[in-house]
Amino acid sequence: MGALIAGNWKMNGLTADLAELDAIADSLAAEPAAAEALVCPPATLLAAAAKRLKGRAGVGGQTCHPNEKGAHTGELSADMLKDAGAAYVIVGHSERRADCGEGDADVKARAEAALRAGLRPIVAIGETLEEREAGRVVERLLEQLAGSLPDAAAIDVAYEPVWAIGTGRTPSLADIGEAHAAIRTALAERFGSAAADIRVLYGGSVKPGNAAEILAVDGVGGALVGGASLKAADFLAIVRAA
Ligand code: PGA
Repeated sequence: MGALIAGNWKMNGLTADLAELDAIADSLAAEPAAAEALVCPPATLLAAAAKRLKGRAGVGGQTCHPNEKGAHTGELSADMLKDAGAAYVIVGHSERRADCGEGDADVKARAEAALRAGLRPIVAIGETLEEREAGRVVERLLEQLAGSLPDAAAIDVAYEPVWAIGTGRTPSLADIGEAHAAIRTALAERFGSAAADIRVLYGGSVKPGNAAEILAVDGVGGALVGGASLKAADFLAIVRAA
């Protein structure tokens, strides 16, 4: 599988910002990239984003509810995201885990809902600074993988150290390599040969200036990009670094 570069717009983006997507679609039409590009805008823009990207890049949701439908005011089901044009959905982002109290079992239920709807979940995991300082990175990642992953391999995983998100700080390349190696080993133990198709993205302060070196680390199968995905030029530079 080729690398996946996913842009996570978080709670950013109004209709006017869709112009960034025209620039992405035009550039990828003129010169296709080796990596697969994905934009995860706020749900209000999903359908319009899919249209503007013209299939040159995919679109994905930022979370989905574990249930298919029902009395859950304000929530969105995986079927709704799919209906709006999504092919992927991020589940278990650390901001959801922290802001909305989503624990591993909840994240797993959301990933399973995504799979039932025909979406490919990108399951996000990552240690806090305290866990890192306590030397518990691998232990924490394995714990999150065991609790958050669905029982099917049609997924991708995003390793995002919580302390690296939006801070401009990143782990050393050796630390990224160590985390990805541990994740890949756990995936192989869990899914056998099917694990080969699971991409493990790195996320946390990925920028045009550091993307190439991070994407070259063994076991890194792409990137989950927050802030730098909001500008077409930066996002494209990262897509082309893969
Ligand atoms: P960042 O966010 O690139 O702005 O650090 C990454 C993410 O939260 O997915």
